[in-house]
Amino acid sequence: MIQVENTPLTPEQVDEVIDRFPGETGDVLSILEELQEKHPLKYLPRETLEYVADRKGLSPSRVYSVATFYSFFNLEPQGRHSVMICRGTACHTRGSNLLMSGVLAEAGGGAPDEDGSYTTPDHQLTVRTVACFGQCALAPVVGVNHEIYGRISDMKLRRIVRELIQKEKQHEDSTS
Ligand code: FES
Repeated sequence: MIQVENTPLTPEQVDEVIDRFPGETGDVLSILEELQEKHPLKYLPRETLEYVADRKGLSPSRVYSVATFYSFFNLEPQGRHSVMICRGTACHTRGSNLLMSGVLAEAGGGAPDEDGSYTTPDHQLTVRTVACFGQCALAPVVGVNHEIYGRISDMKLRRIVRELIQKEKQHEDSTS
């Protein structure tokens, strides 16, 4: 099992991003987006937020409030792949709970935390819920990495997740 090391980005890695956004506070959003993408576990460690605040001359709480306001920012380590399951009313009535339990079963049987999020111990997959994708007519809707699937069945989603996990395993075998 590949373990992805969970360390903050180095000051040099953060500087490289900040230096491309020399403007005022409005750039913080873009900086945080890039830094999250750059982190192998797709999140913003506290140390990184504090470093950005220091470099931009802002209070840490100001930068932290940007990171917590937008739901696409993660403050906890994420998996390399993400599955987002809509828990809005339309999707709920069309079986989003079944989709969630199917994904969790494929991912090894873990239980989500109080926010409805679960990351496998090897950080290969994160599954979480979202309030609504705004595509209720296509319920149930899920997002897998950057792709949205409407009217998805439990079997199809399980197959997609199984293939993702298998692909990771093949990659792991070929690099070990
Ligand atoms: S309720 Fe699921 S997309 Fe709106």
